[in-house]
Amino acid sequence: PFTVELAQSGRSFEVPVGSTILEILREHGVDAPSSCESGTCGTCRTALVGGDVDHRDLVLEDHERGSAIMICISRGRGTIEIDR
Ligand code: FES
Repeated sequence: PFTVELAQSGRSFEVPVGSTILEILREHGVDAPSSCESGTCGTCRTALVGGDVDHRDLVLEDHERGSAIMICISRGRGTIEIDR
């Protein structure tokens, strides 16, 4: 598990093994667009504020991985903060 913090609201949620950031946001009523939910379309792209991200998508270029995350598939280590 890891923790996702939302920069805009200050809320934070634990993301358990087997759940995605996208699923957890929706469970808590946070609206988040998605399409493929498999890391290939780019719809769920979210600005990354900070943290150690385990990028698992096939969309982002290497130089984008410090500032964006695909929340349908990528995960974090410890706590990550996203701009939402
Ligand atoms: Fe397609 Fe996340 S919904 S990359």
